[in-house]
Amino acid sequence: MRGTYFIQTWGCQMNEEDSEQMGLYLEQLGFRPSSGLEEAHVVLLNTCSVRKKPEDKAFSLLGELVPLKRRRPEMVIGVCGCMAQIRADEIKQRAPHVDFVVGTAQISEIPGLVEEAFQKRKFAKRLALPERKGAVVTDIPQRKVDRQTKLKAFVPIQYGCDKFCTYCIVPATRGRERSRATQDILAEVQMLVERGTREVTLLGQTVNSYGKNLAEGRVPFSQLLWRLSEIEGLRRIRYTSPYPRDFKSDLIETIRDCPAVMEHVHLPLQSGNNEMLQAMKRVYTQESFREIVHQLRAAVPGIGLTTDIIVGFPGESEEQFEETLAFVEEIEFDGAYMFIYSPRPGTPAADLPQLPYPVKQARLSRLAAAQDEISCRHNSEQAGKILEVLVEGRSPKDRTMAKGYSRDFRMVHFLAPDDLEDRTGRLAAVRAERGFRWGVQGQFLDWLE
Ligand code: SAH
Ligand code: SF4
Ligand code: F3S
Repeated sequence: MRGTYFIQTWGCQMNEEDSEQMGLYLEQLGFRPSSGLEEAHVVLLNTCSVRKKPEDKAFSLLGELVPLKRRRPEMVIGVCGCMAQIRADEIKQRAPHVDFVVGTAQISEIPGLVEEAFQKRKFAKRLALPERKGAVVTDIPQRKVDRQTKLKAFVPIQYGCDKFCTYCIVPATRGRERSRATQDILAEVQMLVERGTREVTLLGQTVNSYGKNLAEGRVPFSQLLWRLSEIEGLRRIRYTSPYPRDFKSDLIETIRDCPAVMEHVHLPLQSGNNEMLQAMKRVYTQESFREIVHQLRAAVPGIGLTTDIIVGFPGESEEQFEETLAFVEEIEFDGAYMFIYSPRPGTPAADLPQLPYPVKQARLSRLAAAQDEISCRHNSEQAGKILEVLVEGRSPKDRTMAKGYSRDFRMVHFLAPDDLEDRTGRLAAVRAERGFRWGVQGQFLDWLE
């Protein structure tokens, strides 16, 4: 063993997945996970820039590392991820104790940079991003697929984003949209399933536009779902996040007909007002979004629907906000991630006149209260239904209870059966009894396998 490493991760599932890859690279060099930051030989900060808060947290941790690095100058500190991609110079200036900065498409450079940092202490950065739009990209770094055993695994199928919503920093941090080769995805999932994975979540910023500009020719997202569903032993397929405009009938039919594809869609709305959608450069309307929801609910009754919403985008009037609120009350999502708009330097919306923070905060509270009531009601309406639950083990909060998710992606808690430990990872039938904001409490009926 060469020493230990510690990776601090902020941001989305894509970042969590990248951190796992970074860990695998470090393990290959002979490093092992450390129990804490204090004693680690290599510390990586995998950062997020989507809002100001995660950026502040990363700079604050960098500050905390100053005395540590003074005490142990041999410690290697690397900053990776989305903030590293766009703020390398600022990081170097504000945190001169950082050894290297690595962008989102350069993870495979980390082992070399760590070795270099141990030998000569000289600031290094690796920030190259594929720049071409619409070209066949063949230089996507191969993922390390020799992964840990996991019941549920994330699998990136697409990197970057070409949508350029006016509030969003992701196209700058992740670069142009590029899809992974279908064969590579199938091989990775096959290997995961052989090691015990039963559910995969396919990751991409606009995941349903997967399959353009592949060397093998176009592979529609729905076709990828069908091909994955042929992998024996894979019980559930999820994906996040689809983009509303590209949500076509072939995908709706696949959700309806393909047994492994879960009856849940996370479909980001962002705003329910057409002027705001246009200002955000989201190329769909309230009407077309409603139409997709109607089609989904007609094809798959009881389908779980969740969303993302931003309040307080520049210029959002009280009436426009209320239209979003009314639309949320009309659609009745099962759950929503709701955010206060955070200006991201370098994006078009950041240059517009901003709303006062208290106004944004008040809107968030109103929207969240409305959504909480809906989530709670929908979960309560499950009472009496028999849910298929993929059992994940004991609930961390109450060890007498078991936890898992239903096919429409509700969290389900139930009194743990005696043979829970032997059967964890299997499907169970659970009768829903009570609903809460967080999910459903029920009674275990039987194992389904
Ligand atoms: N590609 C995904 C979203 C990625 S970012 C999609 O288009 O759906 C995840 C969520 O963060 C977004 O859906 C949006 O609701 C929120 N978000 C992005 N930029 C933001 C900003 N500047 N301020 C507040 N929320 C933001
Ligand atoms: Fe950002 Fe829009 Fe791309 Fe999503 S689709 S990552 S919100 S630019
Ligand atoms: Fe994810 Fe944050 Fe980057 S949400 S894509 S880690 S900016």
